[in-house]
Amino acid sequence: MEAQVGGRAPGVLPAEEEGPNARRIPPIMVRPLVDGGKPGPAAPGVEVGVGLLGFGAVGSQVYRLLEEGAERIARRTGWRPTVRRIAVLDPARPRAHPLPVHLLAPDAAAVVGDPQVEVVVEVMGGLEPARTLVLEALRRGKAVVTANKRLLATHGAEVSSAAAAAQAPLAFEGAVGGAIPIVKPLRETLAADRVRVVEGILNGTTNFVLTRMTRDGWALADALAEAQRRGFAEADASEDVGGHDAAAKLAILASLAFDAAVTDADVFREGIQEVAPRDIAYARELGYVVKLLAVGRDLGEAVDVRVHPALIPQTHPLATVEEERNAILVVGERAGPLVFSGPGAGGAATAAVVVGDILDVAGRRRRGSGEAAPARRPAGVPARRPVWPVEDLVIPYYFGLQVTDRPGVFARVAAVFGEEEVSIASIVQKSRGAVADVVLLTHEAREAAVRRVVARLRAMDVVKSVDSVIRVVE
Ligand code: HSE
Repeated sequence: MEAQVGGRAPGVLPAEEEGPNARRIPPIMVRPLVDGGKPGPAAPGVEVGVGLLGFGAVGSQVYRLLEEGAERIARRTGWRPTVRRIAVLDPARPRAHPLPVHLLAPDAAAVVGDPQVEVVVEVMGGLEPARTLVLEALRRGKAVVTANKRLLATHGAEVSSAAAAAQAPLAFEGAVGGAIPIVKPLRETLAADRVRVVEGILNGTTNFVLTRMTRDGWALADALAEAQRRGFAEADASEDVGGHDAAAKLAILASLAFDAAVTDADVFREGIQEVAPRDIAYARELGYVVKLLAVGRDLGEAVDVRVHPALIPQTHPLATVEEERNAILVVGERAGPLVFSGPGAGGAATAAVVVGDILDVAGRRRRGSGEAAPARRPAGVPARRPVWPVEDLVIPYYFGLQVTDRPGVFARVAAVFGEEEVSIASIVQKSRGAVADVVLLTHEAREAAVRRVVARLRAMDVVKSVDSVIRVVE
């Protein structure tokens, strides 16, 4: 067969292989989100009653997907999950998608208690009444699907043990990273491996902000306003900027990865409020990018869990994750490094995995395999483990300082580092004048010593300011 170069029809991909069996792949049809086309013959599909708690960005999309995708889902999986009842906190609230009022229950307890509801889908968010409703659903032996990161990060152990006690299936893929499959890989696929590291960009808003500051030189406030306009940010954007949202997600991932009960209160947290465009520019010159990084490490006796701005090398697998995208690097002892990435938020994306969870738990419930089945931890809840104090962290640090520009100043600054046993890897003066910008990188040092250095520098007459101290994650 003659090779065809540039002679193919528009939209048709090249032949998969050359030779007599070569076959053309038809053009890829981009289908609208709404399943259109002629309805085919109804697929049989086993009905599963679903109760929806919440009808916001995710809940309304779950409803849409179950309605519009019903035939396809039944044909593909044999299940026909059907929303039987819906409860919302405020039916009068204006919504992007109209509430199907014929399914509206008088209150959430009526959804959880409805005998037609086998799977309770909690997408209302917040701690209460979500916690009480989820626990009640599990106590009744219903399957529960939740996308509520705050609930799981705070009360994950209680919810897991309720599921185990009732032998009721529980799934929560939508709670971390939107549609990125990360919960199941950690909970099931890698259950036999030992995961030592989970590192991630877990907040879309701050990644968008840092990307705009890095690439386009925007100020933090302007980039945040744009993220809010685009709908990535939490209702209270300080949840994003202050690292709370990422800390909740890290608590969930660390619990799964390290088989430990980690809560959001365990996670050391610093936000991006203090990151300055100058630090981003200097970091770039040194071969790094600045990210809000969530770091989880299994240290054996303890777990190291923290969210903070970090300099990561431009060659790091997470360095090229930009805009509002999320990504998680998982390092298994046997599996090696794995990267999961994707949009990380959004109603339609999250709804796709919530419906995947509904199909999963429906099957498990009908087979009688709840949380106490052999594939699940019989005792239900992993133990708590001590959290490694951040003061004992031993990693490199970046310093941005302003010092008086005259001979002997470097020597005095360097002496402080030396006396505190913090070894300097490089020190560069970035500007000239009465006061000069100085950028300094240390070798691995103990955080407690670095904090002593900062306090001593701030007391020196030749040091005008210690503007930034940022951890370096290699
Ligand atoms: N505000 C969150 C973010 C949305 O920016 O990632 C998803 O949890």
